[in-house]
Amino acid sequence: MKKPVIAIDGYSSTGKSSISKIIAEKLGIVHLDTGALYRGITWFALQNCVDENGKINLEELFKSFHLIELEFKKEEDELILYLNKINVSKEIRAAEVSDNVSLIAKQKEVRDFLLEAQRSIARNGGVIMDGRDIGTVVLPDADFKFFLTASIEERTKRRYNELLSMGFEADETQVRENLMERDRIDSEREISPLRQAEDAIVIDNTNLTKSQTIESILQHLIKIN
Ligand code: C5P
Repeated sequence: MKKPVIAIDGYSSTGKSSISKIIAEKLGIVHLDTGALYRGITWFALQNCVDENGKINLEELFKSFHLIELEFKKEEDELILYLNKINVSKEIRAAEVSDNVSLIAKQKEVRDFLLEAQRSIARNGGVIMDGRDIGTVVLPDADFKFFLTASIEERTKRRYNELLSMGFEADETQVRENLMERDRIDSEREISPLRQAEDAIVIDNTNLTKSQTIESILQHLIKIN
C-alpha cells in the first residue's frame, strides 16, 4: 500500500517541524522541513551575495543557484541539511537568517528553484512536509492537509526558548517582531502566500502541548482513513 503524503502548513513557531518529525517517526515515513531550504538559500546569500552595505544582492543570488547543492542526510533519525557539503543546521536558525528569509522566500526565482526538489521527494508517497504553501501549491493533491496556528504570545515564548536551548542569545521583543514581520510578508506575498488550503484541517494549538497536537493529528488521520 502506498504510504500517505501529509502537508502541514501554518504560522511561524506553531511547532510544525518538531511535530512533523515525531509523526514521521511514528508512521515510518520521511519528514521534510521546507523552511530549512529557504533558510539555507538565505544563509548562502548572506555568505556569498551581499553588496558593500551588507544587503543581499538578489541578481547575484539568482545567478548563483547552480553553485548551490542542497542535500538532506539522515543522521540519528534526523534529516540534517547540508549545503555544499556543509552541515548548516545550526547556522540557518541564526537571527540574521530569520531576519532575511521571508524577503528571499518571496522571490519567484527562489520558489521556482525549490519547487521541483520538494515535489520529487513526495513522488513515491510516504512523506510529511511542513511549510507555508505545501497544501496549496507544492502538494495540492496531498492525502492529508493540516494548518497549524497559535497566539503570537505563545509562539514568541516557544521560539525564544528554542533559541536559548540552541545556545543563541535572544531578546523576546525581537523574537516577537520577527515572527510578526515574517508572517506578514509570508501572507502578503504575491507568489504562494501563506494561507490555509480549503480542504485543510485547522488546529489552534495555543493551549495544547506538543503531544496533544500530535495526538489530535493522529486522530484525524485515523478518522479519515
Ligand atoms: O518554517 P520556518 O519558520 O523555518 O521558515 C522560514 C521562512 O521560510 C518562512 O518565514 C517563509 O518565509 C519561508 N518558507 C516559505 N515556504 C515554505 C517554507 C518556508 O516561504 N514552504
